[in-house]
Amino acid sequence: MTSPARKVSLTGIKPTGEPHLGNLLGAIQPALRLTGQYDSMYFVADYHALTTVRDADELARSSRSVAAIWLAAGLDPERSVVYRQSDLPEVFELSWVLSCVAAKGLMNRAHAYKAARDLNQGLGRSDLDAGVNMGLYNYPVLMAADILIADADVVPVGRDQLQHVEIAADVAGSFNHAFGDRYRLKIPQAIVPEAVAASVPGLDGRKMSKSYDNAIPLLSEPAALRKLVRRIATDSTGVDEPKDPDTSVPFQLLELFAEPQLAADVRGRLAAGGMGWGQLKDALGDTLVEALTPIRTAYHDLMRPDSDLDAILADGRDRARERARPVLEGVRSAVGVAAKH
Ligand code: TRP
Repeated sequence: MTSPARKVSLTGIKPTGEPHLGNLLGAIQPALRLTGQYDSMYFVADYHALTTVRDADELARSSRSVAAIWLAAGLDPERSVVYRQSDLPEVFELSWVLSCVAAKGLMNRAHAYKAARDLNQGLGRSDLDAGVNMGLYNYPVLMAADILIADADVVPVGRDQLQHVEIAADVAGSFNHAFGDRYRLKIPQAIVPEAVAASVPGLDGRKMSKSYDNAIPLLSEPAALRKLVRRIATDSTGVDEPKDPDTSVPFQLLELFAEPQLAADVRGRLAAGGMGWGQLKDALGDTLVEALTPIRTAYHDLMRPDSDLDAILADGRDRARERARPVLEGVRSAVGVAAKH
């Protein structure tokens, strides 16, 4: 965060659920590669999770856990700013100001809120807002505050979050329309980082996803990894018969995680009929254990109570607040609540 010439990218990570290999290759690594191009800020969106979580210990644990996972996966806290959303009071003050310029109708059209209403409708409920709290309704405003308080240029997100970033840009425009002669918020732009692989196949060959129950958790212990790998469905092609590597789930997974030389070797042996499914799965088990052990070890080190994690988050908080302060000062002064006006 030192070169003023570089643009700033910012992304929030909601601390829910245990990440799997699809998340690592499809979301975490692509987002981390952006540090080559942008000054990057990554934060744990713990107050966004509060729209659904009702267990304090779980929220606290999963917030630390998601930070530890990203750090273990290669997020460098020296080069990037890593912090917790709830550590930045500036976000919440801006959030109120933004809610006073955001059109209510815009929030009615936000996907998550609409999905909740559609669900109620499908269940035949007369109150379409049943079970909807104001946090869910205001979710896009808080997200806009996350982005705008950091004066971010770009926001890397998955496709499911594109609408939220568009809403943030829209809300920034509304603020600028009302107060732009005194202070202007930067209009952010969404980017969808390219994943290397189109998608990571799960144990049943469909896209790896928690909802399909076909995922390999990123933090699996070696024995559990090997056991999951043995569950992958394969056909009845005999050991000595040639096999098409590109339609084989174990091979596709191996190719994503193995050294290119090993993957090329295994490909040749499968095609030539020199390798059975059992051997392939053993090779995949070895490959995953080797690729994931450094991440899992670093993760468990960071999760220890005496680790550097809290110091990293405290340092990130200080750096993020430094960036947020002038934005909030500009906003306060523009709307007429600054000490000196
Ligand atoms: N809503 C995002 C998600 O569910 C997380 C998030 C919160 C976020 N604030 C953000 C992402 C700001 C990008 C920018 O994945």
